[in-house]
Amino acid sequence: MGIIERLIRKNIAELTPYSSAREEYSGDAAVFLDANENPFDSGFNRYPDPLQLKLKVKLSQLKNLNYEKIFIGNGSDEPIDLLMRVFCEPGTDNIVSIKPTYGMYKVCADINNIEFRECLLTKEYQLDKKTIFKSIDADTKLLFLCSPNNPTSNSFFREDIIYILEQFEGLVILDEAYIDFSGQRSFLYLLNNYPNLVILQTLSKAWGMAGIRMGMAFASREIIGVLNKIKYPYNVNILTQRKAIDHLNNEEEKNTWVSFILGQREYLRVLLNEFDFITEILPSDANFLMIRVKEPKKLLTYLLNKKIIVRDRSKVPLCEGCLRITVGTKEENNALIKALKDFNKGID
Ligand SMILES: Cc1ncc(COP(=O)(O)O)c(C=O)c1O
Repeated sequence: MGIIERLIRKNIAELTPYSSAREEYSGDAAVFLDANENPFDSGFNRYPDPLQLKLKVKLSQLKNLNYEKIFIGNGSDEPIDLLMRVFCEPGTDNIVSIKPTYGMYKVCADINNIEFRECLLTKEYQLDKKTIFKSIDADTKLLFLCSPNNPTSNSFFREDIIYILEQFEGLVILDEAYIDFSGQRSFLYLLNNYPNLVILQTLSKAWGMAGIRMGMAFASREIIGVLNKIKYPYNVNILTQRKAIDHLNNEEEKNTWVSFILGQREYLRVLLNEFDFITEILPSDANFLMIRVKEPKKLLTYLLNKKIIVRDRSKVPLCEGCLRITVGTKEENNALIKALKDFNKGID
C-alpha cells in the first residue's frame, strides 16, 4: 500500500471534489458563458486560475521542481490546515510536534479536534528524538517541524531531521519559512528521496510579501494532488497570482534584502551584546533575534512607550525571560539600540 492510501482519511479518499468551471475548461476561448461571471471587463470579472499554472511554472523554475509538486495557498496556514484535514481523523488520530514552535500548528489541530503532542526541545533548542519517538503511536499521522524554528531562531541538526524522515512512517511537515536567512540548505533537493516529506515555504518573510498572502507546500505529486482535491476552488486570487509572478521575477531584490537583513542581524547582535541587562542572545538562523533579559515585562513596557514593538515570548517554555526582535531597517534597528541605551541609563 502506498503512503497516501495508508494515511489518508477514508472520506477524503472517497470524496468527489467540487469541479469548478475554470477547471473543466481552462483554455482560451472567444466566448466564456460557463461560470456565471459578469461579462463586463473590470479587470477582475473572471475567476482566477484554480491551479495557478503560470505562477507554478515560475516557481518550478526558481525551485527546480516539477510544477505538479507545488501547492500554493493563502499563506502557509492554508496547507497546514489542509494537511490536517486530509490525513487526520478528528478525535482519533494525532499529530506530534515540538515545543516551543510556531503556534499555528497547535491552533489548527485544536480547531480540527486533533490531538497535538508537543515534545520539548533540548536545552540547546534541538530535537529530542527520544521524546519524539516515544510520543509517536499507530495513530500519529503527521509530524510538524520548523527549521529554522520560530521562536528559538535556530536550525535543527540536519542528521536529526533525516533520522526522523527515515524512521517515521507518517508525513514529516518541515516548515522552512525562514530558510532564506539560514546557513543551512533547504531540504527541497531531498524531496524525491523522501515520499513522506512535505516542505512549507512562504513569500511572507525573505520575499517581503506578507500582505499578498501566499504560502507554498512542496511534496510528491500524490500529496499535492490530495491537497488540490480539498482546497477551496479559487483559493489564490488574481491580484496575488499576478503580483507573485511579478515579484518572483525579481529574485535579485530578495537576495539583496536577505544580505542586508543578515548584516543587520549581526550588527544588532554585537550591539545588544554590550548590555548587561541582556543575559543571552540565542544563535539565530532567521530574521529575528531572541534575547533573554532580566526584567522582560519592564523592558517590553518601556519599549512600548517609545512606540517600539517587540514580541513577548517570556512565558514560552525554554524561552523564559525572552523577547523576540525582528531585524528591521538600519534606522529601525538604531532606534531600538538608542532606546535600549536610554533604558540602560534609566532615562524615561
Ligand atoms: C514558522 C512559520 N511558518 C509560517 C508562518 C506564516 O507564514 P504565512 O504568512 O505564509 O502564513 C510564520 C509566520 O510568522 C512562521 O513563523
